[in-house]
Amino acid sequence: MPPNLCTVVVFLLATMAYGGGAVGVNWGTTASHPLPPTKVVELLKSNNVTKVKLLDADPGVLEALSGSNLGVTVGIPNASLRTLNSSKKAAESWVHDNVTRYVSNGGSGVKIEYVAVGDEPFLQSYGEQFHPFVIGAAMNIHIALARAKLESKVKVVVPCSFDSFLSESGHPSKGHFRADLNRTMIELLTFLSKHSSPFFATISPFLSLHQNKNISLDFTLFKANAKPHNDSRRTYKNSFDLSYDILITALSTVGFPKMEIVVSQIGWPTDGAANATSSTAETFMKGLMEHLHSKSGTPLRPRDPPSETYIFSLLDEDQRSVSTGNFERHWGVFTFDGQAKYHFDFIQGSKNLVDAQNVEYLPSKWCVVNNNKDLSNATASSLEACSLADCTALSPGGSCSNISWPGNISYAFNSYYQQHNQSADSCNFGGLGLITTVDPSVDNCRFSVQLRTSLSDFLYPAYLTQWMTLLVTTILLSLTIFT
Ligand SMILES: *[C@@H]1O[C@H](CO)[C@@H](O)[C@H](O)[C@H]1NC(C)=O
Ligand SMILES: *[C@@H]1O[C@H](CO)[C@@H](O)[C@H](O)[C@H]1NC(C)=O
Ligand SMILES: *[C@@H]1O[C@H](CO)[C@@H](O)[C@H](O)[C@H]1NC(C)=O
Ligand SMILES: *[C@@H]1O[C@H](CO)[C@@H](O)[C@H](O)[C@H]1NC(C)=O
Ligand SMILES: *[C@@H]1O[C@H](CO)[C@@H](O)[C@H](O)[C@H]1NC(C)=O
Ligand SMILES: *[C@@H]1O[C@H](CO)[C@@H](O)[C@H](O)[C@H]1NC(C)=O
Ligand SMILES: *[C@@H]1O[C@H](CO)[C@@H](O)[C@H](O)[C@H]1NC(C)=O
Ligand SMILES: *[C@@H]1O[C@H](CO)[C@@H](O)[C@H](O)[C@H]1NC(C)=O
Ligand SMILES: *[C@@H]1O[C@H](CO)[C@@H](O)[C@H](O)[C@H]1NC(C)=O
Ligand SMILES: *[C@@H]1O[C@H](CO)[C@@H](O)[C@H](O)[C@H]1NC(C)=O
Ligand SMILES: *[C@@H]1O[C@H](CO)[C@@H](O)[C@H](O)[C@H]1NC(C)=O
Ligand SMILES: *[C@@H]1O[C@H](CO)[C@@H](O)[C@H](O)[C@H]1NC(C)=O
Repeated sequence: MPPNLCTVVVFLLATMAYGGGAVGVNWGTTASHPLPPTKVVELLKSNNVTKVKLLDADPGVLEALSGSNLGVTVGIPNASLRTLNSSKKAAESWVHDNVTRYVSNGGSGVKIEYVAVGDEPFLQSYGEQFHPFVIGAAMNIHIALARAKLESKVKVVVPCSFDSFLSESGHPSKGHFRADLNRTMIELLTFLSKHSSPFFATISPFLSLHQNKNISLDFTLFKANAKPHNDSRRTYKNSFDLSYDILITALSTVGFPKMEIVVSQIGWPTDGAANATSSTAETFMKGLMEHLHSKSGTPLRPRDPPSETYIFSLLDEDQRSVSTGNFERHWGVFTFDGQAKYHFDFIQGSKNLVDAQNVEYLPSKWCVVNNNKDLSNATASSLEACSLADCTALSPGGSCSNISWPGNISYAFNSYYQQHNQSADSCNFGGLGLITTVDPSVDNCRFSVQLRTSLSDFLYPAYLTQWMTLLVTTILLSLTIFT
């Protein structure tokens, strides 16, 4: 087959398999020791994931995605929005550095599908600081993409937080955008529809459960026996449909009833709060996947499910902000080191999730509290350790909430020690720390050993492969020439 025809056939097959209702993942890197990008790309491929959403445009991550054929969303950090609004030149540089450079690389390039402007810039807790810049930044990025002749390939979107739209009564028919967003939303929707870009929105049944006394755990977890919510003649059987239709009403109210929707973040955390466990997360994800695969849609959009859905999140990230809650560092379907926490069908009919392979760890060493010392000051030291390290598993309902004092002190010491690459002085704590080779983990409470992140991780195999191919080609060519 000629290469062009081959590409077309592969494209058609891919569209048939994943065209409507594709499921992707969010890949964040707010971790002290991120899993190396090449390992993550292997993890995505071995689980047949076809789309990935990034929160920035990290060169290491984009290099690792080169030639992978995964559909990619690159993100613009909130802090860049002001500059990108006021300067078309800055937008052009951004597109040149972070989009053009990777896509125009032929078959070995990155399949960038979306540029996400801001990381949920309308989150209520951020106030209105980003509102004046978002649309201008989106327009400038669009213009820059058009100049680079990429506007038909790469769409500009703005990920909207779960609290951008709401309904005080809980009834979807009363859905609307948050009052402070009213004008900005209309500008955004006008921009998106002009360029046939979808509306990116987070749906968070987990947060809805925590914020709304009326919603039951069963209703959130897609349980068949959950008490339905009625909205005049419409019956809602799960929290996802309820939130989705609140959004549909909000869109209709401002004149965009047909807007295409991509669910840009949805998931369930497994630690750091009540009801955040692997088993509830598994139930939620299985229910969600079944619902999406059935393509049944919602009462306001029957048989019209979101065009794409991005699971939040791929991996746990131990440096995420915990301002909304200690569960924030535990959204991963996989642990920080790429091990599946539970199983569900990513793609219809898929097998159990596959873990990351050949992960490299620091030595099997832990830091614990020395019980032979006077521990009267140990709590103070542990709290200091926790202010830098990750102690979220110790919070009420967390996986280590049951280990009693001084086990919790050891947990804090170890977390700090691992984050500091097991350096001896990071297990000092005024003489209270003790390094051990005996794993102090108890039951579900895992005392982790961090990943080894060394310079060798920056020698991406993608480069090596390309280099080897070049070498072999050169040798073959010279053989041809000289025979
Ligand atoms: C978005 O903005 C908030 C508030 O300034 C900040 O805390 C957060 O880190 C930003 N996220 C990104 C990815 O820029
Ligand atoms: C956004 O950019 C436009 C165009 O440069 C400028 O007129 C406007 O003042 C900027 N908005 C803010 C809030 O700086
Ligand atoms: C491209 O993205 C990276 C990572 O997000 C950022 O550091 C860099 O400043 C961006 N390039 C430009 C020209 O803004
Ligand atoms: C709670 O549920 C009741 C009965 O379904 C309903 O009348 C009420 O409006 C709901 N309130 C909220 C805040 O959702
Ligand atoms: C938002 O704008 C729409 C359309 O202009 C209007 O009908 C609605 O009352 C506004 N809502 C708020 C809360 O300002
Ligand atoms: C909701 O509607 C269904 C079907 O119309 C009905 O069977 C059920 O009793 C209603 N539930 C409530 C709480 O009103
Ligand atoms: C967690 O789930 C239990 C039932 O398993 C429920 O009683 C409790 O209220 C839930 N907690 C929150 C914060 O929703
Ligand atoms: C991925 O797809 C391949 C080929 O269809 C299949 O053999 C494999 O089991 C799938 N992996 C998972 C995790 O579903
Ligand atoms: C505990 O801390 C206080 C104040 O820093 C200090 O005076 C005291 O000697 C410490 N006690 C032990 C046992 O280290
Ligand atoms: C903590 O202990 C209680 C009582 O023994 C048990 O019900 C609960 O499941 C335990 N929690 C965890 C996270 O292990
Ligand atoms: C450990 O538990 C003790 C006693 O319950 C408490 O005072 C201390 O703050 C805890 N430390 C940490 C790091 O959670
Ligand atoms: C741990 O090691 C990595 C790689 O050598 C380094 O980048 C990082 O800064 C180190 N972290 C600390 C806290 O020393």
